[in-house]
Amino acid sequence: MNVQQLLVKKQQGEKIVMVTAYDYYGALLTEQAGADMVLVGDSVGNVMLGYGSTTPVTMEEILHHTKPVARALKNALVVADMPFGSYQISVEQALANAIRLIKEGGAAAVKLEGGEETAPAIAALSRQGIPVMAHIGLLPQTAGMWQGFRCQGRDAASAQRLLATAIQLEQAGAFSVVLECVAAEAAAQITAALKIPTIGIGAGPDCDGQVLVFHDIAGLNAGHVPRFAKRYGDAAAVIRQAIAGFAAEVVSGAYPDAGHSFFMDADELKKL
Ligand code: KIV
Repeated sequence: MNVQQLLVKKQQGEKIVMVTAYDYYGALLTEQAGADMVLVGDSVGNVMLGYGSTTPVTMEEILHHTKPVARALKNALVVADMPFGSYQISVEQALANAIRLIKEGGAAAVKLEGGEETAPAIAALSRQGIPVMAHIGLLPQTAGMWQGFRCQGRDAASAQRLLATAIQLEQAGAFSVVLECVAAEAAAQITAALKIPTIGIGAGPDCDGQVLVFHDIAGLNAGHVPRFAKRYGDAAAVIRQAIAGFAAEVVSGAYPDAGHSFFMDADELKKL
């Protein structure tokens, strides 16, 4: 999968599937299940690292999680999230960190969160051949410090602002844009206005593609689950049951049985 193929998917009205992954095995599963793009999201902070938000996630953490994901994937496009503080200081800083995610991490593209203020970084990265996914609407890296985790574009003025921002980021060179928690009607208008694919998360059915967090899809969440996050399985119950089975057999002595043990030759045993 590459950027050009994603554009063709939009033109042909084929939906794009993006899922997050943060490790080798999780990435293998996403590709086997049919993901076109795999995002090493800064949601790693919430679902893997136990932070209360995505804000503390560092470049080193995203790099650490991008490497195994990139090693696992044969076809899906690997997008690495640029964490808070890794692209705001200057265009040079954004470029240096994006290059690390591509060269050291093995990502094929980067994503950065924010409105029109991100246009210079998006333009600079794209000019250097780094595909950039924009991310507008609800911005989890900073939302907690401002209005909280609220749906965006619910009134005409804010929907128009989102549309103007999306067009600006497309013109800056973004190859795609995530619309997070955006009113469905606003997301539909943005999707119709852009040539690049929109990837929705809580942004209604008319986006060109959809993304969800691996743990939300699989039912592996410990804390708050957003309304848009649909659960498609109960992996937590399956894993808990498997580990409880192991624990019970250790306690009873049923594990390990002969089939899961190694033995000496009878002659060697006599010498003991
Ligand atoms: O980090 C993440 O998982 C994301 C998605 C919510 C798009 O940015």
